[in-house]
Amino acid sequence: MALTIAIDGPVGAGKSTVAKALAEALGILHLDTGAMYRALALKALREGIDPRDADASEKLCDRTRLDVKLSGGGQRTYLDGADVTDEIRTPQVSAAASAISMARGVRAHMVSLQRRYAAESDMVLDGRDIGTRVLPGAAYKFFLTAPAEVRAGRRYDELRANGVPCAYERVLEDLIARDAQDSGREVDPLRRADDAIEIDTTALSQGAVVAALTRAIKGDADK
Ligand code: DC
Repeated sequence: MALTIAIDGPVGAGKSTVAKALAEALGILHLDTGAMYRALALKALREGIDPRDADASEKLCDRTRLDVKLSGGGQRTYLDGADVTDEIRTPQVSAAASAISMARGVRAHMVSLQRRYAAESDMVLDGRDIGTRVLPGAAYKFFLTAPAEVRAGRRYDELRANGVPCAYERVLEDLIARDAQDSGREVDPLRRADDAIEIDTTALSQGAVVAALTRAIKGDADK
């Protein structure tokens, strides 16, 4: 059975960067599950479909091909065969991804794809429901947190570094709204799994978080 490591948490807690670095350190793959919801949301936006319309979103799922290419160099995400890795990183797509991820049928589809990927190779997966739904039997589960202001600051820096114009207040507002939607939805809401190790990343560098996770995993292996 493949080794799986689950990293969940709210927007901007550092899940994806930490998951990628941890996977590199362990020499295994990383799956950013949020990218899959983002790719579907991008298609909805392009087709003028309301991502809050669960029926339409589920139907959209049925006529959409989502693929990810995982390698040590990082994930590439494909929508109907086209590479959308960079295009899915806008605030519009973030909001639409959160909305489309509320639909039960969309979640069922994504969870089954994610489980298929995780069965193939040893993998770190990051998202909202990895420890609670996608892989409740994951060998290791982590839940990363930090106050909203800290996370918004990070997201703001990231957007600016990628050349996306934005205002900090707006980023904070969007983040709070998305967290509320992700935690408040009916199906598999964002929640720490009972057996997940929670880490507040506020005062920690990315390297320190990765080191803490690696210690938890390696320390366990040494026992
Ligand atoms: O991790 P992210 O910000 O790229 O995710 C975008 C949205 O996708 C997030 O607001 C909620 C949804 N999502 C989810 O519901 N379950 C996951 N495992 C990953 C993301």
